[in-house]
Amino acid sequence: MANPSIYHATATAPVNIAVIKYWGKASTKLNTPTNSSLSVTLSQDDLRTITTASCSASFESDALWLNGAPHDVNNARSQACFAELRALRQAKEDKDSSLPPLSTYKLHLISENNFPTAAGLASSAAGFAAFVRAIADLYELDESPTELSRIARQGSGSACRSLFGGYVAWEKGSREDGHDSLAVQVAPESHWPTMRAAVLVISDAKKGVSSTTGMQATVATSSLFPNRANVVVPARMEAMKKAIAEKDFETFAELTMADSNSFHAVCLDTIPPIFYMNDTSRAAVRVVEEINRSAGKKVAAYTFDAGPNAVIYYDEANQDIVLGTLKKATAATPGWSDKYAHIAAAVPEGFNEV
Ligand code: ADP
Ligand code: DP6
Ligand code: CO
Repeated sequence: MANPSIYHATATAPVNIAVIKYWGKASTKLNTPTNSSLSVTLSQDDLRTITTASCSASFESDALWLNGAPHDVNNARSQACFAELRALRQAKEDKDSSLPPLSTYKLHLISENNFPTAAGLASSAAGFAAFVRAIADLYELDESPTELSRIARQGSGSACRSLFGGYVAWEKGSREDGHDSLAVQVAPESHWPTMRAAVLVISDAKKGVSSTTGMQATVATSSLFPNRANVVVPARMEAMKKAIAEKDFETFAELTMADSNSFHAVCLDTIPPIFYMNDTSRAAVRVVEEINRSAGKKVAAYTFDAGPNAVIYYDEANQDIVLGTLKKATAATPGWSDKYAHIAAAVPEGFNEV
């Protein structure tokens, strides 16, 4: 018998960096959040995942190679993504018997991140968005980005927001089955095309506490956390949507920095405490404070995910002062390196519709 065919598809996905952070799960099974969140999707020119999905009757098990090394897929979250995508493919095959039965074949994924993995730069977001996109393309599914975001959320929560460009909310939803916990585009990149992000990679080391583990510990032990999730963030989500609608950078910056600080405060309030920021991260905060003080208004906004690395949002109009000061500071601060300074624009709407 001839060798069975191998079917392939390749997709890329960008990272997104939240300005109102997701931290806390309402259901670990469904991977639904305790609060809604909002992010900006960055350009794929700098930070991106590329994933090739293949399937064949000859493959014996599902497998993933991440950055050249075998990586576990026998976990509930990867399996949930496989199951959802296979069910959609199966429905297509049931309607059209001329289609090859890809839904019955094992999947092999080969993925590469061109930026540090598990270091607080949203590798799980780009990673699971590309994972879902690549398999959806392989299966020739015509599900919308919204529907794919519901699947990607089950791989990693933040991944649902990487299915869209521009400004994206993950609405936590209220249904028991998690069906309405998905991403929606708040505004396309073209609404505020002068938004820029400087990414300062302070350390490319894998974090000591994964986001999944860290947020579960916070929910279980932090006494500050309920107020953040139930009171502070809902009000900030509304204020942030308004700031984006009005392209009000000062309010955007105030909310972004306040929410990053609130998130790291509940990490510190976790037992035992979780330290994602380090001395160099705190130096970056002081540089941004100094940029804003000398400008006499907020022209730069820092935010830190679950890791030490800084993302600094600014408007292109203030590029000289923001990047000029950051460059001087990074040259003078041990632990900062020029080779790690990336500038990423927000990505255009429909970035993935190749
Ligand atoms: P990060 O801050 O980088 O998102 P997380 O702790 O949230 O860190 O998640 C890191 C994990 O995400 C990795 O250990 C890996 O399991 C998964 N991941 C990262 N990149 C990919 C990828 N390209 N494909 C599949 N899974 C990925
Ligand atoms: C601090 O989406 O990585 O980056 O759903 O457990 O995979 P899991 O967590 P993940 O958490 C991201 C946390 C954050 C904030 C954010 O991106 O909103
Ligand atoms: Co993550």
